[in-house]
Amino acid sequence: MVNPLDMQGRMVLVTGASSGLGRETAILLSELNARVALSGRSRERLEETLSQMSGEGHRIEPFDLNETDAIPDWIKRITAETGPLGGLVHSAGVVTTIPVQAATTARIESLMRTNVTSAIMLVKGFRRPGCALGGSGIVLFSSVMGIIGSPGVSIYAASKAALIGFARSAALELAASGLRINCVAPAVVETEMARRAAEMTQTQEQHEAMERLHPLGFGRPRDVAHAAAFLLAGTGRWITGTTLVVDGGYSAA
Ligand SMILES: NC(=O)c1ccc[n+]([C@@H]2O[C@H](COP(=O)([O-])OP(=O)(O)OC[C@H]3O[C@@H](n4cnc5c(N)ncnc54)[C@H](OP(=O)(O)O)[C@@H]3O)[C@@H](O)[C@H]2O)c1
Repeated sequence: MVNPLDMQGRMVLVTGASSGLGRETAILLSELNARVALSGRSRERLEETLSQMSGEGHRIEPFDLNETDAIPDWIKRITAETGPLGGLVHSAGVVTTIPVQAATTARIESLMRTNVTSAIMLVKGFRRPGCALGGSGIVLFSSVMGIIGSPGVSIYAASKAALIGFARSAALELAASGLRINCVAPAVVETEMARRAAEMTQTQEQHEAMERLHPLGFGRPRDVAHAAAFLLAGTGRWITGTTLVVDGGYSAA
């Protein structure tokens, strides 16, 4: 039987592949027969991801996405060696939990650069002639916080909402080149980032109350990886400009 999620013959660039959701997505894509270019800043943690992957032909491409102007040329350099990409997953991101009163221009701009400007420049690089195969897709990791309000995370929420708005309009620009772009919007998934955010902002009681807001409990990285793979593979052929909410029912209430 043909597996519609099979990604044989495609090279997918995954940012944030050194940790959490990006790592799990890279591992899943390798199990679906994709070749994966793993990116993050920590070569050591990218090597750890690589050691958990299936198949051959993967590569490690350490890069600091805060060097936003250099992103399109970085993609060009990778594709000069690998051939055109068959997908892009942008999982790299940072979370800040600061109330609006504590916001400074420097902190806002730093967060927006890592979470939003990097995404825009990745898409710019991906759509350059010769950098992506026709029909291939981009998945940006937004958050349910970009859709539903929650105190203390307004600046992070703004960055994640920006990705949703960007993907809708960019989808219309990319369609002419036969490329697709979508977001995945998870609620709390048990990763390093979620653990750090919880430790900074919540008591044990508050953490348990947060879990109760997820009718299906907190998510696992694989839950989100499955959604990204579905959007990237042939199963997502007719899907663009949308956001797939993967939140255990958090936003259903
Ligand atoms: N976990 C959740 O509950 C949850 C919920 C909703 C949305 N999300 C979103 O999902 C994405 C992944 O979250 P996660 O939980 O997997 O986070 P994580 O475990 O903290 O991983 C973050 C990743 O981003 C990379 N990164 C950060 N800054 C970078 C930079 N300047 N240049 C290159 N890479 C950079 C890190 O790599 P290095 O440290 O190696 O640079 C790491 O691989 C994020 O965009 C997050 O907003 C997560």
